[in-house]
Amino acid sequence: MTTAAKKFTSESPASEARTPEHRFDVEKARRDFPILQQTIRGKPLVYLDNAATSQKPQVVIDTLTRYYERGNANIHRGVHYLSENATKEHEAARRTVQGFLNAASETEIIFVRGTTEAINLVAQTYGRTQVGPGDEVLITGMEHHSNIVPWQILCGEKQARLRVAPFSDNGELLLDEFANLLGPRTKLVAVTHVSNALGTIIPLKLLIEKAHRLNIPVLVDGAQAVPHMKVDVQSLDCDFYAFSGHKLYATTGIGVLYGKSALLDRMPPYQGGGDMISSVTFEKTLYNKLPYKFEAGTPDIAGAIALGAAIQYLTGLGIENVAAHEHELLAYATEAVSAIPGVHLIGTAKDRAAVLSFVMEGIHPHDIGTILDQEGIAIRTGHHCAQPLMERFGVPATARASFGMYNTHGEVRALVKGLHRVQEVFA
Ligand SMILES: Cc1ncc(COP(=O)(O)O)c(C=O)c1O
Repeated sequence: MTTAAKKFTSESPASEARTPEHRFDVEKARRDFPILQQTIRGKPLVYLDNAATSQKPQVVIDTLTRYYERGNANIHRGVHYLSENATKEHEAARRTVQGFLNAASETEIIFVRGTTEAINLVAQTYGRTQVGPGDEVLITGMEHHSNIVPWQILCGEKQARLRVAPFSDNGELLLDEFANLLGPRTKLVAVTHVSNALGTIIPLKLLIEKAHRLNIPVLVDGAQAVPHMKVDVQSLDCDFYAFSGHKLYATTGIGVLYGKSALLDRMPPYQGGGDMISSVTFEKTLYNKLPYKFEAGTPDIAGAIALGAAIQYLTGLGIENVAAHEHELLAYATEAVSAIPGVHLIGTAKDRAAVLSFVMEGIHPHDIGTILDQEGIAIRTGHHCAQPLMERFGVPATARASFGMYNTHGEVRALVKGLHRVQEVFA
């Protein structure tokens, strides 16, 4: 995934001239996404805000519609046809996620609302029982707020200490410094797989090996990784892995926590309620087996089934094909955007995925976003829920273009043209 520099020209890159069978057919993929077919402010929509949320392919929209038109029922315990069918589809989606992550068992896949809930679940169950006064939780300086605040809350409650591994000026984690922060008091490492603000890909395998040498479990925030690369939780040997469906071409409200069953078994439940029990009396409640112990209440049934459809869609295209396309696009965009005078990239790590963060001299990122919007181009501006990272770079905000499978080289050229327009307005 190295973003090797390529000479940027306004011409189409060589990749676009390749024979179709040797490249991902982006135009075909685009036709699967109805939202992309529209104009915004009279211009074709250029959607470059995929790190915030991805658009949905027709198959996901159809899965939801079909479910609510013909399949809706509550799952588990129902003896009627619709309930049995909904249960089957829900559990089939769990097996799809299991295959997608290569988890050892479907009982290690817990459906949650998203990455944020998955991390809070681990903080409130594993964290509450394993972290005590004087203990430490180690994160990195490039975490999203959802992988900072749950640990801060936990450490505050437990008189424990939140430690933060630093990164270099180009946005690469300093592995030696990370290793130096591991110690006998470290009870958990919680680290992003891909930074949402920089695009940096963390060398997870190395990091996990270092933590495991000291028997420290590792939670991975995979929100920005799963749409862009093959993730194999057994090969990584991570202990927990969290992601959100809505960044993976599925809907909002559904996400996944993977956990090794040996750990999940020992953890107390997260929330109490229906479904997470095997029996209840006023004196004593026995909890359900995995994964249901962690799934209290009626879940997002349709969302889980649609997540299964999104994963099948993505794997049908070949995640390695999608990754290669996005990788090439990022290299092209990096070259093109950094060539604009007065533009500075924030985050230039060797290994990056799908994210291009930048600032422009004398122009606030919000103004960049507003002017691009007039051109039908959607990017995100702000602190990207990573305020400590912004502070580290000495900027209040950045402009961030983030790519998905359906973005094209032509859209990168539209972005570059839009940025020139921004400079004209502020000249
Ligand atoms: C790296 C990272 N972690 C966590 C999250 C939180 O995801 P969600 O809001 O879907 O729970 C995000 C969302 O932007 C993210 O980029």
